[in-house]
This record gives sequence, C-alpha cells and structure tokens, in this order.
Amino acid sequence: MPEPTARDTRTATTAVPLHPLLAQRWSPRAFDPHGEMPADQITALLEAARWSPSAANTQPWRFVVARRGTPAFAQVLAALAPGNQVWARNSAVLLVAVAETVDEDGAPRPWAQYDVGQAVAHLSMQAQAEGLVVHQMGGFSADALSSAFGLEERFQPMVVAAIGSHDADLVLPEPLAVREQATRTRLPLAELLVGGEPVALPRSA
Ligand SMILES: Cc1cc2nc3c(=O)[nH]c(=O)nc-3n(C[C@H](O)[C@H](O)[C@H](O)COP(=O)(O)O)c2cc1C
Repeated sequence: MPEPTARDTRTATTAVPLHPLLAQRWSPRAFDPHGEMPADQITALLEAARWSPSAANTQPWRFVVARRGTPAFAQVLAALAPGNQVWARNSAVLLVAVAETVDEDGAPRPWAQYDVGQAVAHLSMQAQAEGLVVHQMGGFSADALSSAFGLEERFQPMVVAAIGSHDADLVLPEPLAVREQATRTRLPLAELLVGGEPVALPRSA
C-alpha cells in the first residue's frame, strides 16, 4: 500500500494492503455544517444495513433517521452527551440504530446487538463508498431517545451515528482539534489471537 500523504494521515497502517474503503475509513468530528444528504443516499445506507446478515435472518435492526434542521434531529442531538453535541450538530444526519432484543411474542433475541453492530458496519462502508463519513457514538441517553421516539422496552438504542460530509478545513474547539489529528492506533494483530493455528504476522503488525 502506498505511504499516506501529508494530507492523508488518517489512512490505517496495515500489515498487508486492505481495500481502500476499509483502510481509509475513520471517525472524523469535523462535519461540513452545510452538507446535506440526498434522499437516495439515505436510502442506499439503509439498504446496505437491510441486506446485512443476521442470526436466523431475524433482522433485529431498527433505525431513526433525523436530518439536520428537523425536530427529530433536535431530539436526537439533545439526547447526546454534551461532548458529542459540540461537533455532531454539524452532521447532515443523525441515525439511531436500535436493537429488537425481544420479539413480539416475548422470546429473547440473543444476537440482536451483534446483528445491529454488523448492520451499522455495512451502512458505514456504503457511506464511505458514497464519499460520506460516519462517526458512531455510545455517549447518549437511551432513555431520552426511547421516550422521544416512543420505543417499546424491547427496543434498545445501541448507537447514534453522525453521518455527513467531512470538512477538513473546519476548525474544531480544543481538545477536539488535537484529537482530530492524533495518530490512529490499534492493538497488534498478535494480541488478537487467543488460540488456533499460527498466523503469519509481519513484524510491523
Ligand atoms: C460503539 C461505539 C461508541 C462510540 N462512542 C463514541 C462517542 O460517544 N464519542 C466519540 O467521539 N466517539 C465515539 N466512538 C468513536 C470511537 O472512539 C472511534 O471509532 C475509535 O476511537 C477508533 O477510531 P476510528 O473510528 O477513527 O478508527 C464510538 C465508536 C463506537 C463503535
């Protein structure tokens, strides 16, 4: 993989080349405050989530889609932790991903959270392919979201994703500006392997 350029310091450093959609994905906080998402693009993201795999094809993902400037956006924004509100307010869309943890008959869905995470991963890759960026957040009040959108108890808000266009020139307040430029790090590959066959690991990994 070519060395990242000075302007492209966010690309993952990998032991072997990855698909650019994966290598170049990261979670910016500098969203273009004027960026908008056309309806087709929102549909594409939801389609990517809809066609992700799930346990027994139960498809336990549900979404709240809130465009900037709408009452729904204000409700989702208000449910975010203050440190997330500062920057997430500029995103074009705030999307709440919800897990149906118990089915209509009261049977638990033990894989629901896993499936929702995977659906959001697929949605994120589609967003990356569309030239958008996604920043997921766990810092929010699930109770505030459930009450704002009338979610039954068996529906659990898992994550809020800020989605929109990256604005590399937007100046964020500190300490966000520093974090936006900080080196992206990961555990070494070897630390991820807890058993099984030996895997060829380049020294740099
Ligand atoms: C479930 C989840 C919760 C997260 N919560 C927050 C959050 O509340 N605020 C925030 O700024 N970033 C949040 N992040 C973003 C992570 O900090 C980020 O993905 C991680 O540092 C790796 O950086 P990268 O996505 O740029 O590779 C969250 C990410 C995930 C997947």
